[in-house]
Amino acid sequence: MRSAIERRELLKGVYDEARDCVACPLHETRTTVVFGAGNADADLMFIGEAPGANEDRMGLPFVGQAGKLLDRLLGEIGMDRKDVFVANTLKCRPPDNRDPYPHELAACQDYLFRQVELIEPVVICTLGNFSTKLLRGDATGISRLHGQPEVREVGPRAVRLYPLYHPAAALYTPSTLEALRADFARIPDLVALGPPPQPTSIDPVPEPEEPAPEQPAELQAQQLGLF
Ligand code: URA
Repeated sequence: MRSAIERRELLKGVYDEARDCVACPLHETRTTVVFGAGNADADLMFIGEAPGANEDRMGLPFVGQAGKLLDRLLGEIGMDRKDVFVANTLKCRPPDNRDPYPHELAACQDYLFRQVELIEPVVICTLGNFSTKLLRGDATGISRLHGQPEVREVGPRAVRLYPLYHPAAALYTPSTLEALRADFARIPDLVALGPPPQPTSIDPVPEPEEPAPEQPAELQAQQLGLF
């Protein structure tokens, strides 16, 4: 069992790799890699789609209107951002906020799986269709799946996967907001169940081989919640 400090250090290693990533053409148009932010030791993770313009500029996930709604819904269940870890399927913004392409998702998914492997969340809430389809490995849409928890393996880790509507979809559709709020209300009970049984062989994550060059400490601290 890793300590919170070990988790954070290992996660920083993944971040150091991701911030120079050129694995897909999105690196040509991004301003900042949006690795994810929050508590590296969280039991609860949220996974959205991809950074938008605000996120790309600030280097942090869910900082626009959808993020404000996410904060409000978290508040309603007695939590806030520093209790959770928030990431996206893509770490770089697709131009004009278009949908992610399959080759971009494929190029980026290893970062997400390594985040999950290191954070070891009990519950992963997928927000919307892209993260739900990616993590479930099938094409069933969010309107059929939302609010139905299931045990799934994500990379080498078994988690309680809990598909939710994307907050952006709830911003202007009251019935979607109502469903999202009702689904959110069940999160604390799901987290309280604790982790599901794990697959038998989980290999330890190797230590990062060599330190990457330094980057502004403030951004690094925000992304990993080291306030
Ligand atoms: N929408 C997402 O899916 N992710 C973000 O970070 C912001 C908006």
